[in-house]
Amino acid sequence: MTRHEQVALAKSFEGYSRRNFMRMLLGSSALSLVALNRLNAAVYEGLASLNQDYLQDPSPDGTYWDAVREHFMFEDGLIMMNNGTIGPMPRPVFHTLVKYFRMQCTNPYDCYNFLPSKREDVRTRLASFINASPDEVVLTRNTTEGMNFVANGLDLQSGDEVLMSSMEHPAGIHPWRLKAERHGITVRDIPIGLPPQSVEEITDAFEQAITPRTKVISISHTVYISGLIAPIRELSRIARERGILLLADSAHGLGMLDLDMKELGADFLSSSPYKWLGAPTGSGLLYVRKEAQDRLWPTIASSGWDSRESARRFETLGQRADPIIFALGEAIDFQNIIGRERIERRVKTLAGYLKTELSGIRGVRLHTSPDPYLSAGLTAFSVEGVEPTRLVDYLREKYNIVIRTIGNREAGTYGVRVSTHFYLSTKHIDMLLEGVKYLADRA
Ligand SMILES: Cc1ncc(COP(=O)(O)O)c(C=O)c1O
Repeated sequence: MTRHEQVALAKSFEGYSRRNFMRMLLGSSALSLVALNRLNAAVYEGLASLNQDYLQDPSPDGTYWDAVREHFMFEDGLIMMNNGTIGPMPRPVFHTLVKYFRMQCTNPYDCYNFLPSKREDVRTRLASFINASPDEVVLTRNTTEGMNFVANGLDLQSGDEVLMSSMEHPAGIHPWRLKAERHGITVRDIPIGLPPQSVEEITDAFEQAITPRTKVISISHTVYISGLIAPIRELSRIARERGILLLADSAHGLGMLDLDMKELGADFLSSSPYKWLGAPTGSGLLYVRKEAQDRLWPTIASSGWDSRESARRFETLGQRADPIIFALGEAIDFQNIIGRERIERRVKTLAGYLKTELSGIRGVRLHTSPDPYLSAGLTAFSVEGVEPTRLVDYLREKYNIVIRTIGNREAGTYGVRVSTHFYLSTKHIDMLLEGVKYLADRA
């Protein structure tokens, strides 16, 4: 098939209404495995040639990202600014998902005979994506699962202490609360600012809170309430010097930040690639540093749990939804062709623009740090006199922009949260700003 034919095929596919598309899926031939492979190849060829046009420009606004956006399947006019809850899958990921789930319909034999061996290929790509070894990668189903695997799997005694920040997600709080009830450990919250003024404000607070009983620091890398990017590298160093393990809840990290596990130094890191990486829900990552693996018991046990060789022993889960895992691999390929560094830079550029403009609107209080080291794609803020729910509803009704409320009124963290992923442009952010200004002026 020539490139021209590939592009034509991809275009014709785009032209299908949802009903026709479903008919084709249920029908058969047009979306055969071969056709889906060709559609993906056409997307990657398109991105590769786009990259050629922008070799000198690492993070342009406008045409480059508008062209990338075309590889997503948004409903007409939808402006998705809440990757923090669930993000969109780009087309190749969807194609891969369909391709492999289709196999279960047409030839279930291959599902158990052939697919599981391909899981290792995804593990290797994921490991390379975060600069880790495949032996350190556990393929989980989401962040919550990874956090529970760690809290449940560590041997802690009554009186041992876990430190966490005051802004943890329930998925980071409850596994430790459960352990406290069951095993008598102590869990202590360390307050962090909204936003903190510096890295030292956070590291000093944790350093001062450490006692001889402290065994674990469990902290969000990507704080869901405030958008803070916590200084994991610095905290890991402090923890390691004192023989304390560090678990990072990086639910939003994968696909938003150019993660480097060697540089971050955490013992454990849990993430949900369906938020920012473009993978389907049901896929997750738990990184377990090689040197920490002997400290962790598997929570789920089937054949292989007692192998000492790698972190694979933490995922002896029986039959898996392999199409979801392969779609995760496809999401990695999609981001790789754009470039991890370029994506992080783009996410921060958009968030930086948003924060600068927001700070010029009367009554706006930013809950997120302006420092690009302490923030990335999540921006939280409140507007004096404007209910966060009103903001969310107004932006959806007027501009079809999706954001969400976040935080807690009593804790003083209540506001809205905006996700600025690479498929947006400044014109989308300008629409949001117009809406915020309109409400702020009338408050
Ligand atoms: C910081 C943080 N941790 C954990 C979670 C839970 O993620 P999941 O539902 O994928 O397990 C979220 C979800 O938004 C989150 O924001």
